[in-house]
Amino acid sequence: MKHSQFTAPERPSIAANGGVIACVEAAQIIAGGLLLTVATPAGLPHDKLAGRYFLARCAELTPWAQAHDWTLPLRRPLFVAGWRPSRTDEEDVERWVLTTPALDDAGVGWLATRKPGECIHLIGPLGNGFASPERAQRLALIGVPARILALTPLLHAMLDRGGSVLLLLKAKGTLDATLRSLLPFAAEVHQEADEARWRERLQEALAWADAAAIALPDCEIAALAEAVRTARMRIDPGVVQCLVDARLVCGYGACLACLISLANGRWTRACVHGPVFDLASLRGEK
Ligand code: FES
Repeated sequence: MKHSQFTAPERPSIAANGGVIACVEAAQIIAGGLLLTVATPAGLPHDKLAGRYFLARCAELTPWAQAHDWTLPLRRPLFVAGWRPSRTDEEDVERWVLTTPALDDAGVGWLATRKPGECIHLIGPLGNGFASPERAQRLALIGVPARILALTPLLHAMLDRGGSVLLLLKAKGTLDATLRSLLPFAAEVHQEADEARWRERLQEALAWADAAAIALPDCEIAALAEAVRTARMRIDPGVVQCLVDARLVCGYGACLACLISLANGRWTRACVHGPVFDLASLRGEK
């Protein structure tokens, strides 16, 4: 008998080691990112969803593979793009929509090829997500298409309470049709690739918004900070929050792979104190 033929759990459940056995319902590539819908046991914490993440083990869910297959040893972070409760009182599972832009990564490639019904081992949800901008009524979501779905829980929360949402995407060409279909029509969507026009658009969006959430690569954060200073005179705390690039590996503050530097000169672990940070607290952006 092959080791891989050992029976794996076929239902969402809590694993003996405390992790979450999640069953894949769909895996899609959208706008250069992976969108994975999974069923998990009901009852996982689901507050402050945007910016929180799960760590996925990239190996088959057989006892042998979980114990011995270290082809892809590090867990991969998957950010929360949505959560749906059980459909009926009797159903004891809930759905999570998870996303990552790291399509070039071998582990993400492995996750992207999971078929419906296959199960994966997750740890989470972990980290601190975006703080809800309680009094804000105009929310700007700014990012690249492959990352923007990690901000969609904020989008729905703002529309549900009657506010306005502007999405500003840095991207060339035509917006991915599937991505557009996932965005509510009530959200205004703008796309820009030209660098000079992008900076103008950034300033306009940041002048309009009373809160902004950012899902941009690290290399874009300095231009973002400059646009905030131009549009709003200074970077006030509590206005612009960023989902930062960090190597989220252990998720518990133990390995120090995720250290990022802060404006106060200190370092912090993004996995437990982030991965969402106020722009005003990031190094070089004050
Ligand atoms: S990911 Fe290990 S300390 Fe943050």
